[in-house]
Amino acid sequence: MDELLAALRAAGEATRLRVLALLGRGELTVGELVHILDQSQPRVSRHLKLMGEAGLLDRFQEGTQVFYRLSENGLGAALNDALLALLEGDGAALEHDLKVLEKIRAERFEKAQAYFRAHAAEWDQIRSLYVAEAEVEQALLEMQGGAKVERFLDMGTGTGRMLEVFAHLASQGLGIDVSRDMLSVARGNLALKSLDHCQVRQGDMYELLLGDESQELVLFHQVLHFADDPQRALKEAVRVLAPGGTLLVADFAPHREEFLRDEQAHRRLGFADDEVSHWCEHAGLKTTEIRHLDGGRLRVTIWRCDKPADVKE
Ligand SMILES: C[S@@+](CC[C@H](N)C(=O)[O-])C[C@H]1O[C@@H](n2cnc3c(N)ncnc32)[C@H](O)[C@@H]1O
Repeated sequence: MDELLAALRAAGEATRLRVLALLGRGELTVGELVHILDQSQPRVSRHLKLMGEAGLLDRFQEGTQVFYRLSENGLGAALNDALLALLEGDGAALEHDLKVLEKIRAERFEKAQAYFRAHAAEWDQIRSLYVAEAEVEQALLEMQGGAKVERFLDMGTGTGRMLEVFAHLASQGLGIDVSRDMLSVARGNLALKSLDHCQVRQGDMYELLLGDESQELVLFHQVLHFADDPQRALKEAVRVLAPGGTLLVADFAPHREEFLRDEQAHRRLGFADDEVSHWCEHAGLKTTEIRHLDGGRLRVTIWRCDKPADVKE
């Protein structure tokens, strides 16, 4: 009862409801919340602290940036769900905030796209700057275990390198990416290697035009650190993953290379082991293996998560 009252009190104020509605669209930095809410930083920070203490929000620091996201456990998570459902109908009051949020995201998206546009041709060299790429590819193949699959989906395929790596295991490979420039390099690479059973398509990893449970293997290789809402991208991957299917995620372990935000449009400075496995488990998968690879300045982590097979009655 006390806990519920404290959480209700923490949520029961106009700015704090706005914060809940905004974070319902994905994690945000304090700076972004200050900008959208158009209030002073100390004021916004006070609201966030209160909501954090009441179990409504989780806070995490990454380099110079502090991020907030909705709490996913316990009473706070249940209350957030209920409040978000009630706030759904309150379009007019939140319209301004959501517009500013969209603008911030569009700007960041454009910045990332400009980066990929400018670097599409030399991406295959850039991608191997930090880690021994051959080692990562070898580890991914080992962790997948060599099982043949009908359909393989490469999320944020870029130049299509991962389609090449997994081509021998899949009857059909599909790479999706938002960047036309990346995709045109990928098409060239696939043609050069005569990988006719692999295709690429322009698409958004948050909203795949693919049926539920249609893919046996889904991979995110160095994609999530660009995502505004990595959890939502994983959830969408889990939607299209078939029962008994495997999700592989390869990304940087937490690091401090802040320059990657400015120079290479990274949103997140890596991910902790339990962050990704928690998201996957929350979406219904089971983490079966986590591996770390040391690659000089940046470490790479690979998560393997499996979807339970259908239980026959
Ligand atoms: C760092 S590159 C990695 C490419 C490839 N997976 C590799 O390992 O070489 C990240 C890719 O994710 C793509 N991307 C970013 N946001 C996306 C989204 N919402 N949907 C699909 N692709 C996206 C970018 O266009 C870019 O090609």
